Amino acid sequence: MRTGVWLIGAHGNVATTAIVGARALAAGETETTGLVTARDPYARLDLPPVEEFVFGGHDISETSVLSTARSLAESATVPLNVVQAVSDDLERVEERITAGTTVNCGRAVEELASETMSGTSFSNAVDRIREDYRTFASEQNVDRLVVVNVSSTEPRLSSPERYDTLNAFERAIEEDDRELPASSLYAYAALVDDHPYINFTPSTGAALGGLKELAERTNVPHMGRDGKTGETLLKSALAPMFAQRNLQVLSWEGHNILGNADGQVLEDDANKAGKLASKGGVLDGILEGEFHNRVRIDYTPPLGDWKTAWDDIRFRGFLGTQMKMQFTWEGSDSVLAAPLVLDLVRLIAHADEHGEGGLQPQLASFFKSPLGVDEHDLSRQFDMLDSYVDRHEGET
Ligand SMILES: NC(=O)c1ccc[n+]([C@@H]2O[C@H](COP(=O)([O-])OP(=O)(O)OC[C@H]3O[C@@H](n4cnc5c(N)ncnc54)[C@H](O)[C@@H]3O)[C@@H](O)[C@H]2O)c1
Repeated sequence: MRTGVWLIGAHGNVATTAIVGARALAAGETETTGLVTARDPYARLDLPPVEEFVFGGHDISETSVLSTARSLAESATVPLNVVQAVSDDLERVEERITAGTTVNCGRAVEELASETMSGTSFSNAVDRIREDYRTFASEQNVDRLVVVNVSSTEPRLSSPERYDTLNAFERAIEEDDRELPASSLYAYAALVDDHPYINFTPSTGAALGGLKELAERTNVPHMGRDGKTGETLLKSALAPMFAQRNLQVLSWEGHNILGNADGQVLEDDANKAGKLASKGGVLDGILEGEFHNRVRIDYTPPLGDWKTAWDDIRFRGFLGTQMKMQFTWEGSDSVLAAPLVLDLVRLIAHADEHGEGGLQPQLASFFKSPLGVDEHDLSRQFDMLDSYVDRHEGET
């Protein structure tokens, strides 16, 4: 069984780090640290090996996977010797990357774009995307194609309820409804042709009633949205502790600074809105009562891919005594995200193999806003994945 991985945003940092990592694992140049599925109990599932993934993708920028990998090496996030060891592979992947569409991605993304299929009607764009998936799968002899959105964050959709049914969504494509975002066109093209779909970004993707209906009808697994990699991961691990000890959180102020292209796009308020919503929502889902909950994200170019988060938490204990906790998190955004992308491909391919279509709640721990799941407590989310493993253990 050959697994194809189609990355939307293939020239970006997360996509490139995932490709470099997978090829480095295949070449024995790195280890599996950071890959959730490499450890028990998840390693006991019959999952497709990362080493055998075949990559392709869409992008809208002129750069290449190899040049993004070299920039990541310059900023000391990905080791240069690893990039050198897999550079031939990266050049081969580049031949399978084609121009995407930027419809409704916002001004910040349009400024990045060089070659796109914009200007064509939405139905033509969807046909072209479907054709791109199909060509890749047949040329690469792929048995299953998993589509992963790792492209820049789009502005939020103002009235998603307009696309609550598949009929309404398909009519919107036919009528060239100028509100539909690119991420949903890519998602539709995947689900309609039975390709499992992951949305690692805060963009809309398949989070529309009409696309959920499509996935149910075609019995194709999909999940999103917004990978949980840094500050929000910590929040979902720490906030339950305050709740369980009956400590009353009065304020949680989180300030993030980052200097990569993602940070540059998030400088635009329209693109930033979705990210702020998914980062802020996690605490509301865990802590009870009113408290001051604020997240800031700012672009600081010299930081490159190193994201720094400072969090200041004020809380009240017994006898009304006020206390505080502060932490600083410094992570390489792409190095944290890339193994999760590989994990998600493995796990959604497993669901597809077992005929488990629709949303995949067992994958909630990977996302800031897990679709269809209200549980934000990290350890309870892992319990959901563990139960999934229990249900499948022993199968080959
Ligand atoms: N790094 C993390 O820890 C993390 C965590 C959660 C979510 N994310 C999300 O993952 C996404 C990717 O992050 P990144 O750091 O790789 O960003 P990036 O800016 O390095 O890469 C994004 C890529 O997408 C391309 N792109 C933009 N619009 C496109 C479109 N319509 N079609 C095809 N390609 C398009 C860009 O040209 C770029 O190459 C962002 O949305 C980010 O918010 C990242």
